[in-house]
Amino acid sequence: MKKNLLLIVVLAQCLFVSAQKLPDGKARKTIDQRVDSVLKLMSLEEKVGQMNQYNGPWAATGPLTNDNDLLGQIKSGKVGSMLNVTGAVRTKELQELALQSRLKIPLLFGQDVIHGYRTIFPIPLAEAASWDIPAIERSARVAATEVSAAGVHWSFAPMVDIARDPRWGRVMEGAGEDPYLGSLIAKARVKGFQGRGLGQTDAVMACAKHFAAYGAAVGGRDYNSVDMSLRQLHEVYLPPFKAAAEAGVATFMNSFNDLNGIPATASTYLQRDILKGQWKFKGFVVSDWGSVGEMINHGYAKDNAEAAMQATNAGSDMDMESRSNIQHLAKLVKDGKVKMAVIDDAVRRILKKKFEMGLFDDPFKYSNEAREKAQWNNTDHLAAAKDIAKKSIVLLKNNGVLPLVKEKYKSIGLVGPFVTAKSDNLGFWSYDWPDDSTRIVSVFEGVLRKKTPETKLLYAKGCNINDTSTAGFAEAIAIANQSDIIILTVGEARDMTGEAKSRSSIRLPGVQEELAKAIIATGKPVVVLVSAGRPLVFNWIADNVPAVVYTWWLGTQAGDAIGDVLFGEYNPSGKLPMSFPLTEGQIPIYYNYYSTGRPATSDSDRFYRSAYTDLSLYPKYPFGYGLSYTQFEYSDIRLSQTQFKPNEKIDVIVSVRNAGNYDGEEVVQLYVRDVTGSVVRPVKELKGFRKIFLQKGETTEVRFTIGVDDLRFYNDKLQYIYEPGEFRVFIGGNSRDVKEAGFTLIK
Ligand code: NOJ
Repeated sequence: MKKNLLLIVVLAQCLFVSAQKLPDGKARKTIDQRVDSVLKLMSLEEKVGQMNQYNGPWAATGPLTNDNDLLGQIKSGKVGSMLNVTGAVRTKELQELALQSRLKIPLLFGQDVIHGYRTIFPIPLAEAASWDIPAIERSARVAATEVSAAGVHWSFAPMVDIARDPRWGRVMEGAGEDPYLGSLIAKARVKGFQGRGLGQTDAVMACAKHFAAYGAAVGGRDYNSVDMSLRQLHEVYLPPFKAAAEAGVATFMNSFNDLNGIPATASTYLQRDILKGQWKFKGFVVSDWGSVGEMINHGYAKDNAEAAMQATNAGSDMDMESRSNIQHLAKLVKDGKVKMAVIDDAVRRILKKKFEMGLFDDPFKYSNEAREKAQWNNTDHLAAAKDIAKKSIVLLKNNGVLPLVKEKYKSIGLVGPFVTAKSDNLGFWSYDWPDDSTRIVSVFEGVLRKKTPETKLLYAKGCNINDTSTAGFAEAIAIANQSDIIILTVGEARDMTGEAKSRSSIRLPGVQEELAKAIIATGKPVVVLVSAGRPLVFNWIADNVPAVVYTWWLGTQAGDAIGDVLFGEYNPSGKLPMSFPLTEGQIPIYYNYYSTGRPATSDSDRFYRSAYTDLSLYPKYPFGYGLSYTQFEYSDIRLSQTQFKPNEKIDVIVSVRNAGNYDGEEVVQLYVRDVTGSVVRPVKELKGFRKIFLQKGETTEVRFTIGVDDLRFYNDKLQYIYEPGEFRVFIGGNSRDVKEAGFTLIK
């Protein structure tokens, strides 16, 4: 038996060795050897060229520098990568120029493919509400398939910034406030983008951004400073980045903010010590748009030369658009301010990715017009977009009016500025296509496709999204009066949440709330759909209508997904990935806060307590919250044992029963609290969840296994440890309504 095994191993080795040989018998070089052989041929100027990324001449996603000689610079090897160049034709055209350079090093084309390219998926925050990790991976997979066919090699996603402040416009791009959920989603998106591996024609390089702590901008103002303890950085903000690195993400993007006084772009601690050191990240780091040069505005660099030096020495490998590297790096090397070894390391990392993507073997591998065309109307992609759009919807309130029973209504009134909207369903970071008006499904179309032929559909816009005019109210009220039920759509326009879209008020813009009041005053039942890129505050509406459905920005298939949910063809299962504040005054608000020495335990508990005198402690809707058309009942928690040792595990079990009248899915959430620690621990931390499906009347047992690795945290010396002691464990359908038990970790 042993002999046979040996034979198999030897044979396998022979096969492997022969696979490494070229037809002429010479050994095939490894990628590292090929990288080195290119590097040896390169002049210093050519190396610096690889560390330079320019925006293309067709579209921009940041402040542009006018450049008359863009094409000439590509031809002379001064550009390593370009962004915002899409389409097989354009990418081919610019690649041809790069191949006229002395060493014919191909360009890398990067693009913000944040939630789809041709087929627009729900915004990432909405997808996070699905808590459906395979569906999220699929979303990135579809995006990669479509955009790679347009000649793009690299997606500037996933954004994995934790966000606890809904005023910050970029919350829409991430997975919300929780590091555990955020880490799983980060991994899924990286896997989705990179598919079966770099070099496959349907894979693109992913980019974990923005490294790091960009989401903690003071006051929720985009690009603002961040000052936080290193412990909080490691415990809350870094885990999704680490997860992305572990999943093999090809690149990282650093961030605009300073972190504790050092711009992230020039942070040796972040880029060299943590990322390339502790985490052994082998890919490369691109700056954010202009962030190298912007260190002058920060007051950290006196000029672009100093900025290039600081960024490069700190481990930022490629300069997006600030032109600091291309203008100054060569001289900085000659003057001894940046070591050649630092440049070589950066260029090696960049070239390695170009080799892995197969661009040295075929620079036009991805720019294929036939493949691009074939992706154009891919019905599987549309189906995937609809699937996750349904799963992303969160039912916030339902007094029994939903799901709508088709036959019950002679007339349905559709009111509000989003009823016939098309591009507002897409949200920020999405692409416009000439056929959008027929391709994007509006709410009107979604309802039209579901209603019975006998039911009349009535429509009035009522008002614009962000306008002061109430001229359309009268028509809307008249429509409401003629309808048996009203579906009222409110929310934010496509460009109200996104980059540089911070808002101090997160209320409904314009006169939408007044419109809602006027419609509700008719006394007719009203279902409200909220279309937005972030948690909004809309208490009056929520408290005065029978049903509220949070539909975010759901993408191309929005209307169909909404139709399925309204008419009960899909039972909503989404759960909020961010706490929804009662008012802006509670921000930042998040479920995993630390206990204080004077904790308030209820809203009447205000006497010398850490509470507001004029405002509730509690969010409007807590993290993890979301209703279903059915009801799930949780049993008490059972534990396999109440004490366990570090080399053991403990099972935490709950029975969940579908006690309502519909089949449905539930996200069963597990939280843990470390009661006493050498540093203060959060009152609850998500440590696991399962998305389960139960037919009505069905019961199932959900079992979580906890070991010491689930109980680790960063102590004040930044060691990632666990400590014996008492723990509380909570299980429920959201972070607030939970069953509770306790166990002890003994030495
Ligand atoms: C700036 C944004 O912060 C970043 O996320 C994006 O990838 C770049 N611009 C390129 O558009």
